Amino acid sequence: MWTINVMNNSDFPTTERPGTGELPHGRPPQTEFDTGLDYPRLGSVTFRRGTLTDNQEVLFEEHWPRLGRVLDDTPVDIDSWFGRSGHPTIVEIGSGTGTSTAAMAPCEADTNIIAVELYKPGLAKLLGAVVRGDISNIRMIRGDGVEVLARMFGEESLDGVRIFFPDPWPKARHHKRRIIQSGTLNLIASRLKPGGVVHVATDHAGYAEWIDELVEVEPMLEYKGWPWPQAPVLTDRQVITKFEGKGLDKDHIIREYLWTKK
Ligand SMILES: C[S@@+](CC[C@H](N)C(=O)[O-])C[C@H]1O[C@@H](n2cnc3c(N)ncnc32)[C@H](O)[C@@H]1O
Repeated sequence: MWTINVMNNSDFPTTERPGTGELPHGRPPQTEFDTGLDYPRLGSVTFRRGTLTDNQEVLFEEHWPRLGRVLDDTPVDIDSWFGRSGHPTIVEIGSGTGTSTAAMAPCEADTNIIAVELYKPGLAKLLGAVVRGDISNIRMIRGDGVEVLARMFGEESLDGVRIFFPDPWPKARHHKRRIIQSGTLNLIASRLKPGGVVHVATDHAGYAEWIDELVEVEPMLEYKGWPWPQAPVLTDRQVITKFEGKGLDKDHIIREYLWTKK
């Protein structure tokens, strides 16, 4: 269970316009894991597009090459990217517009935050907040969070992984697209240092039931439930995220999950 063998790790297409935040053309790579566990199957979500405003384009051109990367097979050199060494690092998968990412980062200034998102306009919003707010501890990666974890981070390299309000994929035939699966939890666990924390939140009752079934599935993780006041990382989002707000408007109950790496 400990080692994840990435079986189709070769001939990764490189981005055609480096520094633009564009994903390479063609179908994105999907690692074939040989763990026998379940991994999310990407749907059209993979190809999420969207246009940037003129201001965002200018901002992207100027700041993305320093603060952002696109998924590739080059491992992230955390210390050199953040320009400091020995700080804890948390990856947030599916940061959306980055509302809570930007709000939390100043409260955890000693921690390196890496926001992973497929949707470029969401990353552009976060980039804008980072630049305007002079937030120094956020970096961004555009790509599928599963592939980013598998290809760009080594084992036991992270202190936390956050997934706030992942796409619920409510239809039964789409459940296989949900990012929380036994294989994702195994992959996350492998990337965490001992004592590292996984934090997931959802407002979707069906997704909560799905996660409830999986809380004990990964032997490398100890389920801590919610709340966990002694958690070694910030667990308060500080603000209501865009999708959390949509859920609350519909009177949805927010469910939160915390695990620690044994
Ligand atoms: C429902 S939104 C939640 C966004 C944000 N966390 C919030 O609470 O407002 C889910 C986000 O996850 C992103 N996403 C979905 N699958 C992803 C994946 N495999 N890797 C990275 N991001 C993903 C989507 O593009 C979307 O922005």
